Amino acid sequence: MRDRLPLIAGNWKMHKTPAEAREWCVGFRARLPEVPAGVEVVVCPPFTALEPVSGALQGHGAWVAAQTVSDQPSGPHTGEVSASMVFSCGARGTLLGHSERRAMGETDAMVAARVRVALASGLRTIICIGESLAQREAGVTVEVLAAQLASALAAVDPGEIDRVVVAYEPIWAIGTGRTATPDMAQEAIAGVRAAAANRLDANLLRILYGGSVTPATARELMAAPDIDGALVGGASLDPESFARIVEAAA
Ligand code: 13P
Repeated sequence: MRDRLPLIAGNWKMHKTPAEAREWCVGFRARLPEVPAGVEVVVCPPFTALEPVSGALQGHGAWVAAQTVSDQPSGPHTGEVSASMVFSCGARGTLLGHSERRAMGETDAMVAARVRVALASGLRTIICIGESLAQREAGVTVEVLAAQLASALAAVDPGEIDRVVVAYEPIWAIGTGRTATPDMAQEAIAGVRAAAANRLDANLLRILYGGSVTPATARELMAAPDIDGALVGGASLDPESFARIVEAAA
């Protein structure tokens, strides 16, 4: 792989109570006492488990991120959680623009606003983009990804690139067991990198693949020259399989 440090991120989505999250951390630390050299690891629990997971991973080397944050710094926004709140719970970053949130109505403009607030609050951001099956079949994958990316990166100062990661997650591959082939993922991610070059030094930008990544598929995916790691959903819920994916990247 390239100079960019591979990143393995586990997105737990709406799974695990605080007690279950602590239990996961105990299992993960037993399996992987420290993050191996040559890879970075981040765990994205639900808001309610951020603090327990941050505490339970102290001194381990993996860091913790939220799954989204509000586009407002504070105020009358019932049910929302701000970037500074997740920071105070130990999160040092956040996912943004996950397709499961876009499906609930989150627009490119909303994602961009969240990117701005998150970066201003000192968080790192993992910006998720991806095409639907219909868009892929219509041959507009590159255009869809470029538009999502351009909107989000407009909120990024090129000097903030070390706090920005992009995750390419084709919607049809999420939770379906239908992983993109390494060639498909490489082609899409190379296109994303080329599009990012309009805004910043794209050789420094880490771009992950996500969508049904498992210990069996991780190594081959990450061998592709432009794939800088993985955003793992289902397989991150089990400490053993998540540890195996981390090892595949190291
Ligand atoms: P799965 O790995 O379960 O397909 O989920 C991918 C994902 O959406 C991670 O953000």
